Amino acid sequence: METKEAAAARAAELRELIRRHDYRYYVLDDPEITDAEYDALMRELRAIEERFPELVTPDSPTQRVAGQPSPAFAPVRHPVPLLSLDNAMSDEALREFDARVRRRLEGEAPAYVVEPKIDGLSVALTYEGGRFVRGSTRGDGEVGEDVTPNLRTIATIPAALAPGAPARLVVRGEVFMPVAAFERLNEARRAAGEPPFANPRNAAAGSVRQLDPSVTAQRSLDCFVYAILAAEGFPEGAQPPATQWEALAALRSWGFHVNPDNRRCATIEEVVAACREWAARRAELPYAIDGVVVKVDALRQQEELGSTSHSPRWAVAYKFPAEQARTRVLDIVVSVGRTGALTPLAILEPVRLAGSTVSRASLHNEDYIREKDLRVGDWVVIQKAGDVIPQVVAVDAAARTAEARPFVMPDRCPVCGAAAVREEGEAVRRCVNTACPAQVRERILHWAGRAAMDIDGLGPAVVDRLLAAGLVRDVADLYRLRAEDLASLERMGPKSAENLVARIRESLERPLARLIFALGIRHVGERAAELLAAHFGDLDRLARATVEELTAVPEIGETIARSIVTYFAQPETAAFIARLKEAGVRTAEPGRAPAGEGPLSGKTFVLTGTLSMPRREAEERIAALGGRVSGSVSRRTDYVVAGENPGSKLERARELGVPVLDEAAFVALLEEARAGRTAGGGDAVGAGAARPAGAPGAAGEGNGGNDRADL
Ligand code: IVH
Repeated sequence: METKEAAAARAAELRELIRRHDYRYYVLDDPEITDAEYDALMRELRAIEERFPELVTPDSPTQRVAGQPSPAFAPVRHPVPLLSLDNAMSDEALREFDARVRRRLEGEAPAYVVEPKIDGLSVALTYEGGRFVRGSTRGDGEVGEDVTPNLRTIATIPAALAPGAPARLVVRGEVFMPVAAFERLNEARRAAGEPPFANPRNAAAGSVRQLDPSVTAQRSLDCFVYAILAAEGFPEGAQPPATQWEALAALRSWGFHVNPDNRRCATIEEVVAACREWAARRAELPYAIDGVVVKVDALRQQEELGSTSHSPRWAVAYKFPAEQARTRVLDIVVSVGRTGALTPLAILEPVRLAGSTVSRASLHNEDYIREKDLRVGDWVVIQKAGDVIPQVVAVDAAARTAEARPFVMPDRCPVCGAAAVREEGEAVRRCVNTACPAQVRERILHWAGRAAMDIDGLGPAVVDRLLAAGLVRDVADLYRLRAEDLASLERMGPKSAENLVARIRESLERPLARLIFALGIRHVGERAAELLAAHFGDLDRLARATVEELTAVPEIGETIARSIVTYFAQPETAAFIARLKEAGVRTAEPGRAPAGEGPLSGKTFVLTGTLSMPRREAEERIAALGGRVSGSVSRRTDYVVAGENPGSKLERARELGVPVLDEAAFVALLEEARAGRTAGGGDAVGAGAARPAGAPGAAGEGNGGNDRADL
């Protein structure tokens, strides 16, 4: 039976995995796993938390709402919350929705508006005096991200409204990438060696949440507007709309792009028929949809029905059943991951499915293929799980021809030929050769990843060229590269070669936690790496730790501990770490305080707005000195660090009289703390002022080169 300790370790692992996938999905717009796989992780975590409620942590992903704004953009508080919708998954659920509405309206029969549910990015657009002044993403519904410059590049978002529009107007709409533009973009990305976007939604979100608006401008985005969130100052004689249908017409007349496929239905049966029709005709539409939104037409009735805290009672989202397609398996290939795991992949005859052309599907592992008795040449039914990566859901054995041949999982690595071994109790077969080129490639990519050593510019295309040219054989070789070596690579000019060498060099100084994560030890994710770095403070100490010493670290369980011991017991590991040290990778945290101890111990910081250093770095520097970072401002907060475009946290700090530091003052404070002068009471800044008295004014500006060298 499962012990509480095992459950706690697994819960910690799951939380960390989910966080990492959230980051890839919401921030990078580049998910690594399917929605179904993500849901499975969430379900497993929820199940553990249900069995052991005492294990629920306040920061568990089960406790939060999705879509938190990214720190890269300034936060914007929406004038009215941007609500979400309840789902109806069947015709019956639609009729129940109608019955609920009628009950609340005391028998009054509502008319409905039916709108295709665009799979894009929800935005709020503000107009003042007819001019577009601000655009933001939905974020968590209360606070979104300011993406005004990016939205200005979208042709169908009018910069100025037509006469007749109210003086102040806030509307809601959906930014999307038409299917044709999505496919063109992905073709171009594949040709450039960049990873394609999984679906038009991710492509739209990735394009809007760009730091450089000129990138957004090249992305052929469109925006359908579907709601008036606030309107004041209608011109003389103009009537505010009384229904959703009139609102759509008004929005169109003011110059917005309004979906021509929206419809008005007099009864719920008409609504049901319209939903069925869209489900059937979904593939014909030039934009991707994941359902239909059904709204009560009369605004007076909407008001009467009201909203719960997260969704209106007057609308519902009819979600389509997962779209399926039938196609043939042309081949089954096997890819090799970072840990040597062999993953079979079906190569399909290209087929259109849920807004994109699909030519491959994941097959998970050999058991999955055996259970389905899937053979090369078979006809299969595929489905997009949560509309991301397609999966094979059924095999049409009746359509099998004599040529169909069973698949045999190789017992040798398809890339290097070494033995591929399946350990007892595991579903996965692994290539045992740690020098396998496929593993090396994935290890380098993991090493360079944002949460690891964060080497910008070292993506798949560059890594492939480096490997092909024989310039690197493992991660340690990266640190021997010179700009001259790189400049000889295809598509790499002298300037980019120099930049890349500089980025690689900078990574030598990453904090220990990132180094531990970057090593790619099985089961050691970002969170475990942080705990281990804080506890051991030095890679050599970690390498010598026993299972008992490791499990003594809170949150580190047996699985993680054993995996670490196994990793460091391998002779290659010692040789590899020696080479890293030789290259100058920092393996100890000089002067790092054990968790909570240090010159900033007991001090709580809150970060807001955009800093020139990544937020993660700011957090790490505070933690390295023993301080703590919190997400919200309270009386117990010691400092609020305000970057550019700070949000409501700054106002809150001022209300509570919490000292506010700008970036220069913050860096100066870190420097002082590190130099041994603690951040004691007297040197803090008063509310409003932004530099500690006595801090050298130039410390912030002059810091760029300095702090890297000796932190
Ligand atoms: S109405 C309170 N209308 O679907 C009104 N939403 O789950 C709520 N969406 O976040 C939204 N097309 O991003 C509405 N015609 C449409 C829509 C639409 C797409 C998205 C929107 C929202 C999500 C609701």
